[in-house]
Amino acid sequence: MGDFKTLTDMVRLARNNLDKGDWDYLVGAADTEASLNRNRAAVDSWTFLPRILQDVSDVKTSTQLLGQTLRIPVVLPPIGSVQAFTEKGGSAVAEAAADFGVLQILSSSCSPDFEAVAQQIQGPRIYQLYLSGDQAWLDDQIARTISSGYIGFCLTADTQVYSRRERDIMKNYVPMQARMATGTMLDQSGVNYQSTMSWDTVAHIKEKFDIPLIVKGVMNPEDAKRCVEVGVDVVYVSNHGGRQLDHTVACIDALPAVVEAVDGRVPVVVDGGFMRGADVIKGLCLGATAVGMGRFEALAAAAGGAAAIGRALSILEREIQISLALTGVADVADLHPGLMHRAQPLAASHALSAFPLLEEGY
Ligand SMILES: Cc1cc2nc3c(=O)[nH]c(=O)nc-3n(C[C@H](O)[C@H](O)[C@H](O)COP(=O)(O)O)c2cc1C
Repeated sequence: MGDFKTLTDMVRLARNNLDKGDWDYLVGAADTEASLNRNRAAVDSWTFLPRILQDVSDVKTSTQLLGQTLRIPVVLPPIGSVQAFTEKGGSAVAEAAADFGVLQILSSSCSPDFEAVAQQIQGPRIYQLYLSGDQAWLDDQIARTISSGYIGFCLTADTQVYSRRERDIMKNYVPMQARMATGTMLDQSGVNYQSTMSWDTVAHIKEKFDIPLIVKGVMNPEDAKRCVEVGVDVVYVSNHGGRQLDHTVACIDALPAVVEAVDGRVPVVVDGGFMRGADVIKGLCLGATAVGMGRFEALAAAAGGAAAIGRALSILEREIQISLALTGVADVADLHPGLMHRAQPLAASHALSAFPLLEEGY
């Protein structure tokens, strides 16, 4: 448990530990899985134009987000049903994030619930809520998020309806609460509150509550601009790891225009296809403050719970340090687009193509 030497070992362990249903839920995506594959292909398409003869004897990987110091510029994004991968679910991720020094964004679609996690594990974290009630219900949830000590509140805006994930449908796999699996996220009275979410919801939260607001699922620079105008505190570029709308632009390709639209007014986080230390460096070169790593987190959880997530983060940190030094940059804050060059990916990309040794039987 948690004593693997490489991230490739971690993925192999995760695969061995999960049955086919949970494995497919973890790696799978919507419809043709084009958004998923495109995310990875685009990360693979960015290559480095390194600089030499810089003093990189002491590299700095830490960054600030919402007043917190992240030991590496990484957040652990919301993973619904993470308890399918490790028994302690969201608490295992919370424990590893707090011990290591990165931020977790806890999903409302996992167990234990956000109040139990807050009671069990000390440490700064963000709560991501799927709407499943009216405005009074939302207000109550946010008030409880604040009183439980969460440092941020995240709305996922790319899940107006639940997508069709064929791997799960063909096996009758039911990963989330029953309402999510219906494909419509109806509550008991038959309303899909997620699809009623609008800019008014965002304005309401900003007016009524004093907690930093993260909007996750921003892809279009016009939406990024609007987020900043209405006071959103973090713009989070994401296509849900390709699990919602199929055939989107890759997230790393959406990033530069969003960064330009935001123009330094708030931090930008990006996720989608980031699996290795070098990938994190690419996201930062293109203007992100931090990179979310969803399947990385889920795979690490499946490899052995909190201990394995901690181990995976340590290996990731080493990869980041090495990539930084070899790019010729001593501090993540100094990464910039001039270090990047766009090229053809080497091979067809997919959810696990960051681990090519797996295909050779390692
Ligand atoms: C198994 C799984 C469950 C997820 N559940 C949620 C969720 O409950 N809420 C949410 O906002 N995003 C959810 N996501 C999306 C992630 O937060 C993140 O955006 C995505 O995984 C990033 O892409 P990556 O897996 O390529 O890193 C989930 C992703 C996976 C893989």
